[in-house]
Amino acid sequence: MRILEGAEAATSAASGMGAISSVLCSLLSNGDRAVSVKDTYGGTSVMFTEFLPRNGVECRLCDTTDHEAIEAEIARGCTLLYLETPTNPTIKIIDLERLAKAGHAAGAVVVADNTFATPINQNPISLGVDLVIHSATKYLGGHADALGGLVCGKADLVKKVYHHREIHGAALAPMSAYLLLRGMKTLSLRISRQNENAMAIARFLETHPRIDKVFYPGLGSHPGHGIAKKQMRGFGGMMSFTLKGDSLEIVKKFLSGLTLCHKAANLGAVETIAGIPATTSHVECTPEERKALGIPETLVRYSVGIEDADDLIEDLSNALSRV
Ligand SMILES: Cc1ncc(COP(=O)(O)O)c(C=O)c1O
Repeated sequence: MRILEGAEAATSAASGMGAISSVLCSLLSNGDRAVSVKDTYGGTSVMFTEFLPRNGVECRLCDTTDHEAIEAEIARGCTLLYLETPTNPTIKIIDLERLAKAGHAAGAVVVADNTFATPINQNPISLGVDLVIHSATKYLGGHADALGGLVCGKADLVKKVYHHREIHGAALAPMSAYLLLRGMKTLSLRISRQNENAMAIARFLETHPRIDKVFYPGLGSHPGHGIAKKQMRGFGGMMSFTLKGDSLEIVKKFLSGLTLCHKAANLGAVETIAGIPATTSHVECTPEERKALGIPETLVRYSVGIEDADDLIEDLSNALSRV
C-alpha cells in the first residue's frame, strides 16, 4: 500500500473507521481546530460532530464543493484539514491540490480518504496530501469478505497513528490481512473493469427517459468533471442516480426489478450492489439532515462490479421499464 500510494510509510487498522479514528485522535487534541466538509462518510462526520468536540477540538464542516468557503475557514486557523473525494453518496469532487496548498499555508496536516477512488485512480500524496486513508473493506479487499483500514503518508505522522491504534486495540485481524492482501493482487484488473463498466452505465442512464439525474464524475455534465479529469486517472465504480417521479414507491419497484445485483449497504466489491442511502448508508440521519447534505430520499447508489457491462445495462433497462 505504501508503494501504491507513493508514501513514506503505511500502517493498518481493524476497519476504515479504525483508521479514521486513529488518525483524528492521534493528531488532534484539546484546543485544536479541524476543518472538513459536510459530505464525509457518515461515521467520519460523527467524529467531527460528536467525539472530537467532546475532547475540546473545534470542528468546522464546510459545503463540500465550495472551495472558497473551505479556504476561508482554513485561513481562520486549522490544525488538521480532512478531505474525501469522490464523496458518498452524491459523488462530489474536491480539488485536492488546491486545498492541500491552502491547508499547508495555515500549517495544517492535510488528510484525504481515498476509499472511493482507490490508488489505481488517484494518488492524493502526489497532489500534496500528507496522509491518505482507505477503508480496505471496500475496493482494496474487493470481495466483501474482510474488514480493514489503511493509513499511508509521512513517516512521522504514520508513527503517531500507529501508536494510537496499537494502544486503542484497533489492530487488523490476521485473517482479514490475508484476505485483503489476496484481494489486492487483482486490484488493478478489477478497477480498470469497474471504471469501464461504470462509464458505459452512466452514459446509458444519462440518456434514459425514466432517469432524472446521474451523479458520476466521468460524465461531462458532472459539476466536478473538470477537477476529476485533472486529478484522477479513472472515474471509479461508484455512481448514484434519481428516477423521474421522485417517489420511494417507484424506487422500490425499480430496485426489486434488478436481478443482477445485490441490494445491500456495502460497496466496492466484484459484485454490483445497489441501495438507497436513505435506508442504508445514511439511515441514521433524519430526513432533514439528509436534505441538508443534498441526499434525495429517492437517490439510488450503485456500486458497479466486474460483470459484463451489457448484462448490467440490460438489467437496468428491464428494471426501469417496470416503473
Ligand atoms: C469513504 C468511506 N470511508 C470510510 C468508511 C468506513 O470504513 P469501514 O466500514 O471499513 O469502517 C466507509 C464505509 O462505508 C466509506 O465509504
